[in-house]
Amino acid sequence: MNIPSRVRLIDVGPRDGLQNEKQPVPAAVKIELVHRLQAAGLKEIEVTSYVSPKWVPQMADNHDVMAGIVRQAGVRYSVLTPNLKGFEAALLDQPHEIVVFGAASEAFSQKNINCSIAESIERFAPVVAAAKAAGIAVRGAMSCTVGCPYEGDIAPERVAYLAGLMKGIGVERVDVADTIGVGTPRKVQAAIEATLKHFPIDSISGHFHDTYGQALSNTLAALELGVWNFQSSVAGLGGCPYAKGATGNVATEDVVYLLHGMGIETGIDLDALVDAGQFISDHLNRPSGSRVARALLAKRQG
Ligand code: HMG
Ligand code: MG
Repeated sequence: MNIPSRVRLIDVGPRDGLQNEKQPVPAAVKIELVHRLQAAGLKEIEVTSYVSPKWVPQMADNHDVMAGIVRQAGVRYSVLTPNLKGFEAALLDQPHEIVVFGAASEAFSQKNINCSIAESIERFAPVVAAAKAAGIAVRGAMSCTVGCPYEGDIAPERVAYLAGLMKGIGVERVDVADTIGVGTPRKVQAAIEATLKHFPIDSISGHFHDTYGQALSNTLAALELGVWNFQSSVAGLGGCPYAKGATGNVATEDVVYLLHGMGIETGIDLDALVDAGQFISDHLNRPSGSRVARALLAKRQG
C-alpha cells in the first residue's frame, strides 16, 4: 500500500454541489461560499461552469460569480467548459484551470452534453489547445467510470479508452468520477487502474458521489493505490441534473475527518470548513449532508 501522507482536496461544492438546486442561489451566496472555503484552507475550488443556461440554469451567473471572488494567492480556481463557446466566455474571467467533461458511457455522454464520446473529444480538442495557448491548465472529468444510469455497469476498458482519448488531445490530469455513486472499492480501483494506463498517479483524482453510501470506502480504496487528489463538496451538496437520483459528492468534512484521523495532511481547518458548510446549508434551509459536520455541530451545542 502506498497511502500518501498528504492529500489535496478540490471542493466542487459551488459547481457540482449547487448546479442541481431548483431555486436560484444568488451569486453573492456562491461568492461567500468560495470565500469561506478558501478561508478554511481549500487550495482548489471548482467555482462554476460555462454551459448552456437552458441546460443548467443555476450556472447562468458564472461571470458574476467569477468576477465577484476576491482571489487568495495560492488558490486554484477551476471552471467547466464543454465547448469553445464556453471556453471563450470563461477566458474573460481568467480561471487557473478549465475542465472538459466526458463520459465512459455513450448514453450518458448523449444525455449530458448532447453528443457521442467521439464527438465530445472533437469538441474538446480545440478547447484544450486554446486553454494551453492561454496558459490555462486543463483537467478532464470522466463521468460514469463504474456505472451509468442508462447503461448499468461500465467496464474498465471503456475507462481506459476515454482516458487515452483525453491524453491524446493534451488533457493534463483527469478525474475518475463515480457520477451516480454506485461504485464499491474494487470496482473503483479497477477504474483507477484503467486510467493509470494513460496518466500517472499524480495526475488522477477521485470524484465520488455518495448515493449508496460508498464514497468514503471508495476514497480509502483510491488512497491505497496512491491517489492523493480528490474532489468533494462541502456539506455533501449536489448531484447531476442528467443523473437522476444521484445524490451529492462525498462531503468534504467527512473526507477531511477520515484523512486527519489517518494522520494524512490536508492543510484544511475542519472547524472552519464545518462553518462554511453550515453557511450554505442554512441558505438552502436543510441540514448538512455531512455526517461529520452534524456530529461536530451537535458536540458544539452540547
Ligand atoms: P447543444 O444544444 O448540443 O449545443 O448543447 P449547441 O452547440 O447546438 O447550441 C445550442 C444552444 O446552446 C445555442 O443557443 C448555443 O449558443 C448555446 P441558442 O442559439 O439556442 O440560443 N450554447 C451555449 N450557451 C452557453 N454556454 C455554452 C454553450 N454552448 C452552446 N458553453 C452543451 C451542448 C454542451 C452546450 C449542452 O449540452 C450543455 O450545456 N450541457 C451541460 C451539461 C452539464 O453542465 N452537466 C453537468 C456538469 S457534468 C457533471 O456534473 C459531472 C461531473 O461532476 C463528474 C461526475 O460526477 O461524473 C463533472
Ligand atoms: Mg460530479
